[in-house]
Amino acid sequence: MNFDEIIDRVGTHSNKWDMMEQIYGVSPQDGIPMWVADMDFRPPTCVSDAVAAMHDHGIYGYFGGDGPYRAAIQWWMKERHGWSLDKDAIFTTHGLVNGTAMCVDAFTAPGDGVVLFTPVYHAFARVIKAAGRQVIECQLALDDGRYTMDFERYDAQMTGRETMLILCSPHNPGGRVWTEAELAEVAAFAQRHDLILVSDEIHHDLVMPGHRHIPMARIEGTEDRLVMMAATTKTFNIAGSHTGNVIVPNAELRARFATRMVAMGQSANSFGLFMTEAAYSPEGAAWVDALCAYLDGNRKLFDEGVNAIPGARSMPLEATYLAWVDFSGTGMPADDVMARVQGTARIAANHGPSFGTGGADHLRFNLGTPRARVAEAVSRLQDAFADLQ
Ligand SMILES: Cc1ncc(COP(=O)(O)O)c(C=O)c1O
Repeated sequence: MNFDEIIDRVGTHSNKWDMMEQIYGVSPQDGIPMWVADMDFRPPTCVSDAVAAMHDHGIYGYFGGDGPYRAAIQWWMKERHGWSLDKDAIFTTHGLVNGTAMCVDAFTAPGDGVVLFTPVYHAFARVIKAAGRQVIECQLALDDGRYTMDFERYDAQMTGRETMLILCSPHNPGGRVWTEAELAEVAAFAQRHDLILVSDEIHHDLVMPGHRHIPMARIEGTEDRLVMMAATTKTFNIAGSHTGNVIVPNAELRARFATRMVAMGQSANSFGLFMTEAAYSPEGAAWVDALCAYLDGNRKLFDEGVNAIPGARSMPLEATYLAWVDFSGTGMPADDVMARVQGTARIAANHGPSFGTGGADHLRFNLGTPRARVAEAVSRLQDAFADLQ
């Protein structure tokens, strides 16, 4: 468990490293990729041992008998999140973008409205639009520099054509860990407007010390409309395994989802199942605790350095390793900010507008990398905006 180790990922078909030049014009030779949400760390040994055991055996046939896999998920959710779930409620999809697409397919019809609290993870809107549904953006409010929700405004926005709400919990970007009271308000909103409530909790384990994630399934009164989504991929940095879990507590919704899984020819990838079973273990849990403490150190270093740039403000992260920085206080047009970040500092960071309304003038920086690289990024950003001092 050495998060300081610099591991060369160039030329390994890493999206984050090998596509940055094409997308951002930043060379991987001297640039710092802080965009795609994967980390530059190896997973815990229990996970790589599971892959090594598959390699040693050397036969990669169809997977069967996922009882231990389901039991590992049940153990993790109970142990880490205080949530007891029914093993028969679990569906395994090819990651959670695929899980989102499956939910949209199973529970909405073409033309329906799907509500998002924006700015939010960009793939949601992409999937909804491509499926011929409408994205209904409910913009998050700001309270003391943190995102909150304004249900009076959202109530007034509803037209009756909305059938689903997708919540990102914890929130990407902005790193909010929604409180129990906020989650209860979301559930009440979904009930008021008769919306299927999809809670994407992929970041549920990446919570900073002092905060506690509450699964939406623990909020009372959600059973008739809730779909939970979770995965090992962000937590253990195994996104390439493309494995996620869509958990549907309600029997009627479960039957609808099961039919669509068959209709779409879905079946799981054996690598993802083996890795997940290994990750959801006491060894995996100890690794996650150490990881979160390390990410918290990265967060502090980044925030202190970036908040020292006049007009730049990094939102205080309660969860995730994705720092959300508002540059509007610099008074510069977004193109000038980007020219400094990409051209001068040679950093690739996600552009705010791709996260929807409320994302203008923001950039999202991935801090899931060795601390020395975060320190280098901070120093380059300070240099790139030095004339503002
Ligand atoms: C909220 C959220 N959902 C889903 C994903 C991606 O999920 P997957 O890689 O399982 O498709 C991400 C990746 O950043 C995310 O932030």
